[in-house]
Parts: sequence; C-alpha cells; structure tokens
Amino acid sequence: MRDTDPYPVNFDQRDPAPGVDPLFVERWSPRALRKVDVAEAELRTIFDAARWSPSCYNEQPWRFVTSTPASFATFLDLLVEANQTWARNAAVLGFLFADKQFARDGSDNALAVFDAGAAWMAMALQARRLGLYAHGMAGIAWDRAHAALGMDPERYALCAGFAIGALGWPESLPEPARAMERPSPRRPLAELWRQLD
Ligand SMILES: Cc1cc2nc3c(=O)[nH]c(=O)nc-3n(C[C@H](O)[C@H](O)[C@H](O)COP(=O)(O)O)c2cc1C
Repeated sequence: MRDTDPYPVNFDQRDPAPGVDPLFVERWSPRALRKVDVAEAELRTIFDAARWSPSCYNEQPWRFVTSTPASFATFLDLLVEANQTWARNAAVLGFLFADKQFARDGSDNALAVFDAGAAWMAMALQARRLGLYAHGMAGIAWDRAHAALGMDPERYALCAGFAIGALGWPESLPEPARAMERPSPRRPLAELWRQLD
C-alpha cells in the first residue's frame, strides 16, 4: 500500500444517500496525477478485479492493453493534446477494447461494450482500494489506436483510454483544469431512477 493523497480531497459537492459505500463516492477522476511506481503485482490486482465483472453469457469481452515505462510515450501519443497535458504524469496509460464476437458461436456480441464498461468500473474501484486513481478518456486517437496497439479493428471495439496514477497537486495543472480539480456532483437520484407501479 502506498502513501495516501497529498491533500484532503473535498467531497462537498457529493451528496450520497445514507448507506452508499464510500468506495463509490470516493472514486473520482483527478487530472493532477503523480507518476508513482505501480508494481506489476498491483496492476495484476487491478485487472484481475475487472475479471470478476458480469457479462452477457459470461463472455468476458473486455481486453485491457497497458503501457510499460518503455512504451509509455507510444501510449501518450494516442491521446489528444488536452489529455496529454495531464496524463503525461500518470504512472500507467491504457486502452480498453471489447471483443465484438461471441466465442461460443462467432455471432455479434451487441453487449460487449456494455460489459467492458462494467469491467472498467471494477478496475477503477480496485485502483482506489490500492490508493490509486483511474481516469477514463474519450479524447484518444480513435483512428490510430488499433494499429498502434496491435488490435484487429474488425474484432475489437475500442471503448476508451485510461490513466492510472496517484493523486497529484492541483497546482500542477493549467487552467481551466485546475479549477475543475475536485470530485464532481451528480444529477439528483429522482432524475435517474423511478419506480413504476
Ligand atoms: C468513457 C469516459 C471518457 C472520458 N473522457 C475523458 C477525457 O477525454 N478527458 C478527461 O479529462 N476526462 C474524461 N473522462 C472523465 C469524466 O469527465 C469524469 O468521469 C466525469 O466528469 C465524472 O467525474 P468523476 O469521474 O470524477 O466522478 C472520461 C470518463 C469516462 C468514463
């Protein structure tokens, strides 16, 4: 287990209902990251947590590809510039793909990206348990990532990129990212859930 956050994070904008596990509320996506050493065993823990996610027919379509120190620059180059400015301080960069084909019969798996999203959440929560943060990214080189990472575009849907690191200081960010560097609020539950008699 690593050292904790370098400053007390302010969760004032978050209003969970009573009983919601802090694990969910305290997962957020900082841009100020620190390039700490993340041991391979920790990465194994993070991606193994994702392995236990549910999926349609237990197909487990998620595929994670992550950087090593040797390939970090290649991964960074697959992010849009706005993301590169902060993600360069991440410890690890990665991309999530979803296998579009059912292994059972080769037919289209229309739920593959849905299942990959569940796996992403599992890895993000496990990262928090290890004192790390995972930050998802849509600002990626959608047209170049498959070729750069050796993934067949016919078979694998690119879902998102992500950065993993320890929390850094907001002062390390340029504006406007610095002003946004706090856990964000949510729509009211009443807007997201209703019971129908
Ligand atoms: C699929 C996905 C794509 C995202 N793309 C970006 C991105 O390109 N750049 C960025 O700074 N944040 C990105 N985010 C972070 C979101 O803005 C963030 O998750 C959202 O505002 C909710 O805040 P929270 O994660 O801190 O709770 C992305 C998140 C997800 C899940």
